[in-house]
Amino acid sequence: MNDAPVDDLTILRCPHCEETLEAVGGGASCVAGHHHDRAKHGYLSLRVAAKGLGAPAAGDTADMVDARERFQGAGHHDAIAAAVRDAAVAGVSATPGDDGWVVDLAGGPGWHLGHVLDALPGMHGLLLDASTVAVRRAQRSHPRIVAATADLRARIPVGDETAAAVLKVFAPGPPVEIERILAPGGVLVAAIPEPEHHRELVQPLKLLKVPAGKADELVASLPGLQEVARTTVRETVHVDRAAAADAVFMGPNAFHQKRAEVEAALAAGPETRELTVAVTVVTLRAPGG
Ligand SMILES: C[S@@+](CC[C@H](N)C(=O)[O-])C[C@H]1O[C@@H](n2cnc3c(N)ncnc32)[C@H](O)[C@@H]1O
Ligand SMILES: [Zn+2]
Repeated sequence: MNDAPVDDLTILRCPHCEETLEAVGGGASCVAGHHHDRAKHGYLSLRVAAKGLGAPAAGDTADMVDARERFQGAGHHDAIAAAVRDAAVAGVSATPGDDGWVVDLAGGPGWHLGHVLDALPGMHGLLLDASTVAVRRAQRSHPRIVAATADLRARIPVGDETAAAVLKVFAPGPPVEIERILAPGGVLVAAIPEPEHHRELVQPLKLLKVPAGKADELVASLPGLQEVARTTVRETVHVDRAAAADAVFMGPNAFHQKRAEVEAALAAGPETRELTVAVTVVTLRAPGG
């Protein structure tokens, strides 16, 4: 186990100009003089406005991150975490050396990345997310995780061919950039919900629907990578009303739903309900290595 603090500046790049970063007082700077603050909690702030996309994304709120941590901590998504972990371990173990970086795109508070790193004791994790709250929690969640805020809609502030593995779990991430940051032989592990995921809540509460075929769509958007494995987690878990509300408010539905209305609708149903978990985990490999 290598729990020494890691130097995140070996992998991070300036989100404005893609140059390398050097430590300076209060944070890090590139040769062009773009300065990025390091928070007292240790993470760098790399969230900048991307050309043509308006203000930088703010990501999940504290309430959403709380809901995610409660729901994941209760074990309702353990089967997804195990599938992501196993896919990452299988993908990384197929290439020589297992001491590189796992980059978690929009990784939230770090639950999935922590599971992956526990199974890969020689590797380090970089977690990027637009949410300051999520990044702060992720940074302190595991000794081998470093985190940074970033808006991942256009660019990933990471050097070319630096990632042995990239995780994309219910998360955004531009395909061209994923191909750019993967090291030769490196793997992308993506977890994508199926239309029936959480259907017992989606249908009655009129939540955002997941269209069919999203995993195929992702694979088609990454022509430079080759699909090497695919598995679909399908199971039924049992959630009480509080956990059902967390399942709604830990994701983008939080931006469209009123908590009081959702809680009233859940109160009219049983105290415990079945919840379908249906998520495809696909592994794609970069050429070379
Ligand atoms: C559904 S959550 C998934 C979090 C984590 N991957 C997991 O499965 O636990 C989506 C995450 O994307 C982040 N996010 C949303 N828009 C983003 C953006 N433009 N750039 C970076 N992160 C973003 C949110 O803050 C949130 O943490
Ligand atoms: Zn710069």
